[in-house]
Amino acid sequence: MPSISKITVLGSGIMGHGIAQVSAMAGYSVTLRDIDASLLDKALEKVKWSLNKLVEKQKLTQIEAEKIFHRITPEINLEMSLKDADLLIEAVPENLELKRKVYADVDKFAEEKTMYASNTSTLPITEMAALTHRPERFIGLHFFNPPQLMRLVEVIPGRNTNQYTIDTVLDFVMQVGKEPVLCRKDIAGFIVNRIFIPLVHEAAYSLEADGVSMTQIDSAVKYKMGFPMGIFELADYTGLDVVFKATSEMFSRDKRIVKPHPKIEELVDAQYLGQKSGRGFYEYSGSTFQRIDLTPEEAAKYNPIRLVAVSANNAAWLISNNVCTREDLDKALRLGMGLKTDLFNTAEKFGMQNIVEKLREMAAKYGSRYEPDVYLENYKNG
Ligand SMILES: NC(=O)c1ccc[n+]([C@@H]2O[C@H](COP(=O)([O-])OP(=O)(O)OC[C@H]3O[C@@H](n4cnc5c(N)ncnc54)[C@H](O)[C@@H]3O)[C@@H](O)[C@H]2O)c1
Repeated sequence: MPSISKITVLGSGIMGHGIAQVSAMAGYSVTLRDIDASLLDKALEKVKWSLNKLVEKQKLTQIEAEKIFHRITPEINLEMSLKDADLLIEAVPENLELKRKVYADVDKFAEEKTMYASNTSTLPITEMAALTHRPERFIGLHFFNPPQLMRLVEVIPGRNTNQYTIDTVLDFVMQVGKEPVLCRKDIAGFIVNRIFIPLVHEAAYSLEADGVSMTQIDSAVKYKMGFPMGIFELADYTGLDVVFKATSEMFSRDKRIVKPHPKIEELVDAQYLGQKSGRGFYEYSGSTFQRIDLTPEEAAKYNPIRLVAVSANNAAWLISNNVCTREDLDKALRLGMGLKTDLFNTAEKFGMQNIVEKLREMAAKYGSRYEPDVYLENYKNG
């Protein structure tokens, strides 16, 4: 089995500090690099806070927490940060120009043995790999937010990634106590965003076309589709800027995946970014996590068949294009989006024939991107 011991994490923000923490908890020696000492101080404070919580909950002893904390070395100097690294995990902001610059700098100093992994949510892995001198040792490693709690990690090989890198990174994900799901093709949105992002837009179209309220749609998503919360609620929770960015990236790569609804851009332009800014699709009081009041009674007023149909069709495309297995799809949606019921089981409840007919009706009305996938057409219940 490939063995690695030293990890370098570039970027100590929301994702980077969490990835550094889970790596240190698994016994790896970690160097955490950012561009400013005050950012690293803040990141280490957050790690300390999180480890203290685990001590309070008696999941770690004080001595263990201290040992873990001391496995993380903050570093400003890029060359120093890369010394002896087996695996580099890049978690700098989602901007291809910035990442381009970062990889050009990293390539100057990284040792021959270092594998590169990007935590990007949406950028093409193959394209980023091509910016470096080691595309065969470059891979996507998509942790979810917050890395300390979320168990799913999508692993995305680029077109030239070698098997050794894939095996090493899959093993690393398991060593840090997470569940890897292999996204076999470097497609826009990978697996979870490929389902989540188009669904937000479809819900916005439905809101407009079907004369229903947001809470009726969200209640149906929660009570009839097995989601942990409504889809507008989930978008607000994720951050509409994040949703918008992912939409734009996905749309720029493949026009069939998502037809952006203008409402999301309008909300972002108005700085209504969701829960964190006090307003998104919904209004919130204060910035602490707040749930929307959703009920089975409200759910009864809306039939979410078009939402089920679009999600099942996108999921079907992933399977029939050999991006992932059905088992991995279910695992990714369960761990990445909190789905309580497998998507195709939900679709079966609506009747797969009805789903296929709904898609055909939508294709006739709105265009060919709704055409049902062959996997749905040939679907056998059970
Ligand atoms: N936030 C999320 O929910 C989430 C979830 C999954 C994946 N991602 C992805 O993870 C990556 C990081 O996102 P984030 O939310 O943690 O961003 P963030 O803005 O919170 O943190 C990025 C950090 O990178 C630092 N940085 C900038 N240039 C750098 C450089 N040259 N070297 C080292 N550090 C540098 C910044 O100072 C900042 O501290 C992005 O690619 C994003 O798409 C984010």
